[in-house]
Amino acid sequence: MSKSIGLFRFLVVVLAFLACLCETAPGQTDLTGFWKYSVQDGGVNYLEFKQAGEQIFVGGRNGMSQTPYGTLHGDKLHIQVPSPFGNPDSKRFTTYDAVIKGDKFPATRKDQDGEVTNGTLAKVAKEEAHPARLPLPELRDLPDNGLARTPPMGWNSWNKYHDHFDDAIVRQTADAMVSSGMAKAGYTYIIVDEGWSSYRDKNGKITGNARFPDMKALADYVHSKGLKIGIYSSPGPQVCGGYQGSYGHEDEDAKTFAEWGYDYLKYDWCSAGGIYQSTTADLQGAYQKMGDALAKTGRPMVYSLCEYGSANVAAWGAKTGGNLWRTTFDISDNWKSMEANGFSQLDITQYPTPGHWNDPDMLEVGNGGMTGDEYRTHMSLWAMLRAPLIAGNDLRSMTDETKSILMNTDVIAVDQDPLAKPVEVLSRQGKYLVLVRPLDGNAVAVGLFNRGDEPAEMNFQWDSLHMGVGLGFKSIEVKNLWTGEEVKVTSDDFTAGNSLTATVPKHGVVLLKVTVGPFRFR
Ligand code: GLA
Repeated sequence: MSKSIGLFRFLVVVLAFLACLCETAPGQTDLTGFWKYSVQDGGVNYLEFKQAGEQIFVGGRNGMSQTPYGTLHGDKLHIQVPSPFGNPDSKRFTTYDAVIKGDKFPATRKDQDGEVTNGTLAKVAKEEAHPARLPLPELRDLPDNGLARTPPMGWNSWNKYHDHFDDAIVRQTADAMVSSGMAKAGYTYIIVDEGWSSYRDKNGKITGNARFPDMKALADYVHSKGLKIGIYSSPGPQVCGGYQGSYGHEDEDAKTFAEWGYDYLKYDWCSAGGIYQSTTADLQGAYQKMGDALAKTGRPMVYSLCEYGSANVAAWGAKTGGNLWRTTFDISDNWKSMEANGFSQLDITQYPTPGHWNDPDMLEVGNGGMTGDEYRTHMSLWAMLRAPLIAGNDLRSMTDETKSILMNTDVIAVDQDPLAKPVEVLSRQGKYLVLVRPLDGNAVAVGLFNRGDEPAEMNFQWDSLHMGVGLGFKSIEVKNLWTGEEVKVTSDDFTAGNSLTATVPKHGVVLLKVTVGPFRFR
C-alpha cells in the first residue's frame, strides 16, 4: 500500500515538473491569445498564439498547430508559419520577427515570396479576430441587372501589380487604355483590385488608403477618358491580403461605391471562408446579400463573383445578380496554369448566357511568363470560351507583339459575338483539340489547339463544320485570324470530304473564321 502511495507521489512530482517546463513561468510574458499584424496602408492578418514556455503554437483553421511554429527567447519573438498551414513538408513559410514590448510592438513579416513588410503586432479580442456570423438572407432569384450582354472587357491591376500600385498608376493605365488603342478595340473597365481600401472611419464608412486618397476623384478621372471603373471587396471582413472587406457593411459599401461612381464590383470570397461554410447555401446567400445591396443603389454596376469556382457557382451565380463568376483558382503567368484554367472550361460551356459569364480568370498576356504562341493560345481560348477579356499587364509599356495579341479585333469579335453560342469540341486526340463555335452571320470560328510540347500537323474535315455548302454554290471565305491571311478553299472541299491541314506550333493555335456567303444557285 505505502509502496503505491510512494509511486503515486513520485508521478505527481514528475508531472508537476514537466508541467512547469511546458507552461509559461510566473511573471514571464504570455503571448497566448489573438494578435493582429497590420501594415500602415496595407492589410491586416489575425494570428492566434498559444505559448508554452519558450514555444509558440499557432492557430489555424483546424485548431492549434501540432508542433510549435515559433519561439520566444527573452524578448525576441520568431514565428515561422508553413504554407499551406499545417503541412509538415512545406518549404515555404511566412515569418514574423519582433522584439516584444507589452501588447503592441513593431514586427517584420517576410512572406512566402520573400517580400518583407514592416508592421505592428497588437493583441486583440477574440471577437475581432473571429467576428460572429451574421444572418444571411433567404435565398431567392434576383432580377437580371441588364448589364454585360457580351463578356466584359477591361483591365485589372492584380496580375501585374498585386497591391503595389496607386492612384497615379491607375490614372496612367486609363490614359494608356485610350492612347494604345485598347479602348477602341473594346476594353472598357479599369478595375482596381486589392490594395485600395483602408480601415473604416469612425462612422463605419470605408475609405481609400494613402495610396488612394480620393476614390471618387479617381472614378471621375477614369470616366473623363470615356471609360468605366471597377472596385474590389469581399463578403468577409478582409479581402485576401487583409485590406478592408464589406462584412456587415454590405449596404453601406454598395452605397459608397455607387456614390463614388463605380460601375463594376469584383467581390472576392477570401476571409468570408472563416465565417461562412463553403456550401451553396452560404455562398449564394453571401453573394445575394451584396447583389441585393448593389441593386438597391439604383446605379448600374457589373457584379463579378470570385469564389474560385466552388459549389458549382456557374449554376447559381446569376441568381445572386452576378454577371460573371470565377470558375477557377487564380491564374499565374505560365503555360501550366493558363492551360489548366482555360481548357477546364470545356466541361461547363452550357452555363454562360448574355449577361452571365464563366470567368476562368484574367489575362496574363504581356506579363512575360509565356511565349507569343502561348499568349495567342490564351487569347484564342478565352475568345472561344466567351470569357471576359480583362487584361492584366502594364498597358503603359506594351511590346508590339502584346498589342497585336490584345488588340486583334478579329479574335475579340469571336469573344464578343452576339450569338453567344457555346464552343464545341470537334475532335480531341490527346493533346490536340479542334474547337468550333458558331458565330453570327453564317460563320464559325475553328481553333486548332496544340497542347503538346512539339509542333504538330493538325487537321479537320471541312464538311464536319456542317455549313450546308453542298446544297448549292455559296461563296466561302476562310481567314486565319492570327496571320490575317485568306485560306484558299472551294465548295468542292466541303463536298469531297477534304481536310484542312496546318502545322500548329508547340502550345500554339491556328484560329480560323469560316464564313459562308448567301445561298446561290449555280
Ligand atoms: C484572390 C483573387 C485574385 C485577386 C486576389 C487579391 O486570390 O482570386 O484575383 O483578387 O485575391 O488578393
